[in-house]
Amino acid sequence: MNLVIETIKERRSIRGFKPQQVSSSDLRTVLDCALSAPSACNKQSWHFTIIQNPELIQYLNDTAKTNLKKSDDPLFKQYGEDDTVLLYGAPTLIMVSGDDEDYDAIIDCSAAVQNILIAAQSLGLGTLWNGLINFAFQNDDVKEKTAIPAGYTTYFGIAIGYAIDGVELMKKQILTDGVIDYIK
Ligand SMILES: Cc1cc2nc3c(=O)[nH]c(=O)nc-3n(C[C@H](O)[C@H](O)[C@H](O)COP(=O)(O)O)c2cc1C
Repeated sequence: MNLVIETIKERRSIRGFKPQQVSSSDLRTVLDCALSAPSACNKQSWHFTIIQNPELIQYLNDTAKTNLKKSDDPLFKQYGEDDTVLLYGAPTLIMVSGDDEDYDAIIDCSAAVQNILIAAQSLGLGTLWNGLINFAFQNDDVKEKTAIPAGYTTYFGIAIGYAIDGVELMKKQILTDGVIDYIK
């Protein structure tokens, strides 16, 4: 099979990482792929913050859990209360933020995230697109500690690293019924 197609189809969310750090050259490659993503009017309204400090990663996890606990949404609340570790031991967290002035920022950021996931997969790295960690960024001290630029809002985190051997993947059924229509 074509290698790109194979890489896209083989990517899965990884929820269990080795402590081994991602090399700076692999990290640079995936970030270059992020910067190559399409964006509305080519405004490239994204910003990436690479966090590799273990204490800070732990602090973000704990702050997100505290904020999740306060959520009115029962599912989010449960994530705050149970013992789920949001980033599953990933040694690197990429926070993706969008320019508040740009109407399409969240879409641009999503395109960049997907490029990161596919590029990482092709390099033998595992990833988890992570929305829950963003709950930490409700706190001003977190935005300060991570130096999120003024005028940018964090949308997603990406946990990235090497999957632990035999990592368990969540069951997934690809839905096809009623998803695609052809009009010829
Ligand atoms: C916007 C977005 C946010 C997500 N946030 C989380 C998250 O916070 N925690 C998590 O474990 N998975 C998260 N995921 C991963 C999804 O659960 C996962 O992509 C989905 O179950 C399909 O599985 P797959 O990625 O293995 O194909 C997120 C995915 C997306 C697109």
